[in-house]
Parts: sequence; C-alpha cells; structure tokens
Amino acid sequence: MIAARGLRKSFGRTTALDGASLALPSGRVSVVLGPSGHGKTVLLKCLAGLLRPDAGCVDFDGRDVTDMGERELYSFWKRVGFVFQESALIDSLTVEENLALYWRVHGSLSRSALREKVAAVLDTVGLAGLGSGFPEELSGGMKKRVAVARALIKEPAYLLCDEPTSGIDRRNAGIMKDLLRRCGREGSTTLVVVTHDVQLAREMADHVVGLRKGRVLFEGGPAQLTEDRLDRLYEGVDNER
Ligand SMILES: Nc1ncnc2c1ncn2[C@@H]1O[C@H](COP(=O)(O)OP(=O)(O)OP(=O)(O)O)[C@@H](O)[C@H]1O
Ligand SMILES: [Mg+2]
Repeated sequence: MIAARGLRKSFGRTTALDGASLALPSGRVSVVLGPSGHGKTVLLKCLAGLLRPDAGCVDFDGRDVTDMGERELYSFWKRVGFVFQESALIDSLTVEENLALYWRVHGSLSRSALREKVAAVLDTVGLAGLGSGFPEELSGGMKKRVAVARALIKEPAYLLCDEPTSGIDRRNAGIMKDLLRRCGREGSTTLVVVTHDVQLAREMADHVVGLRKGRVLFEGGPAQLTEDRLDRLYEGVDNER
C-alpha cells in the first residue's frame, strides 16, 4: 500500500501539489489521471522519494519515504522501478548497457547470467535483438519500452510509470498497454501509472485517482470515471482528454 497524506510542493510561486492525499492498493494497477501541468509527475516523484515534498508524508509499506535518509532511500529504490516521462536513457550506452547498468552496480551476477537477464527483459518488452543499438536509433515508443525494461530488470515490487503512452503512435501505445497489463496482472508488481489519457485509465485501472490543481478530486474504483467527474477534472482543458 502506498498512502500519501497532505502532500504539498511548490516551486517558487508555482504550487504543484496542494495537499494531495491518496491510498493506492498493493498488487493492483492504479492510474493517476489529470490535465497537463496539474502535478502528476511531481506527485509520482514524491511517492518514489525522488522529490521531497514541502509538507505531508508518503507511507510506503509502513515506512515514510519523506523521512528516509540517503542510505535508506537507496535500498528503497531497489524495490521501486521508475519510468520517467522522457524515458531518460543514457545516450552514450547501448540499449543492453542501459539495461545491464543496475545489476553492474548492485549485483554480483556473472556475465552470462546478466546477458540472459538483459535478453529476457528485452524479449518481454518486444525488442529482442535490438540490444546492441543505441537509444537514438529507436523511435520514441521503443525508447519508452526500453525505459520500462530498465525498470523491470530490477524485478521491482513497485513499478511507477510516468505517461507511458503519451507522444507515441497507436501501435506502440497498444504494445505498451499490453505490457503494463501483464506486469500488473500476472506478476506481483504494484503498478502506478500517471497519465492524461482517460482511455488508458478505463482500460487498465483497478483504482483511479483524479488530480486537478495539485489536489485529489476523486479516488476509488474505475466506476469513479463518470462523465460528470471527468468534466470537472478537465474543466477548461477538455482537449487533453
Ligand atoms: N523542477 C521544477 N521546477 C519548477 N517548476 C516545476 C518543476 N517541476 C514541476 N514544476 C511545475 O509544477 C507544476 C506541475 O508539474 P508536473 O510536471 O507535475 O505536471 P504534469 O501533470 O506532470 O504535466 P504533464 O501532463 O504535462 O506531464 C507545473 O506548473 C510545472 O511547471
Ligand atoms: Mg508529467
């Protein structure tokens, strides 16, 4: 269970989170939905301990992430895979090297075991055989899948994904949704997806959160996604739905 209470975060005069509280169930797919610029990425980073909120707490399986020191955060991050909105792959490393990096730093796997792990995770994301190329040779959608693979190779208990389907074509978006669904449903992974894509929420979510102006407007099962609530969530920015 990830439970956040009263999260506040400002950057200068911009308030990104304005007292957001939510409770995301373990072993399920949670989707945080909301318009652009309303705090989704900041929220996800606060949940993952990548950003420290100005106020509020994040209970992650009984520990407050906002209260962790550097050492505890590093061991916490071993259990949490994070897919950044912009993929954030390392351009100077091949796809395989990007994927192997975590285990090179944290593990004591043999070369052949690591090679097998990398090949297996590339296969999982439908990119078998593309490991020797560099990220710049890939489409945006493929890069996002490599970013998911890089998170999955840690075998995380939690997978936090920022806009996994935005800015990519429909085919790649479909592949991504299938992939995330498999991670969320078949595995023991708790999946948290942040998106502005209502369709993705309808297709994937066991649990939904509507975030507007840094506050939670609604939260609960997928039945929460009524036209009325979505109208309020996207009021004034309806073209983003
Ligand atoms: N590091 C930062 N420095 C300054 N302002 C920031 C920073 N990060 C976020 N913000 C601001 O906080 C607000 C919320 O940003 P956030 O990235 O969380 O939005 P979002 O909902 O993820 O949007 P999008 O759907 O476009 O990704 C925005 O006004 C943004 O400009
Ligand atoms: Mg964002």
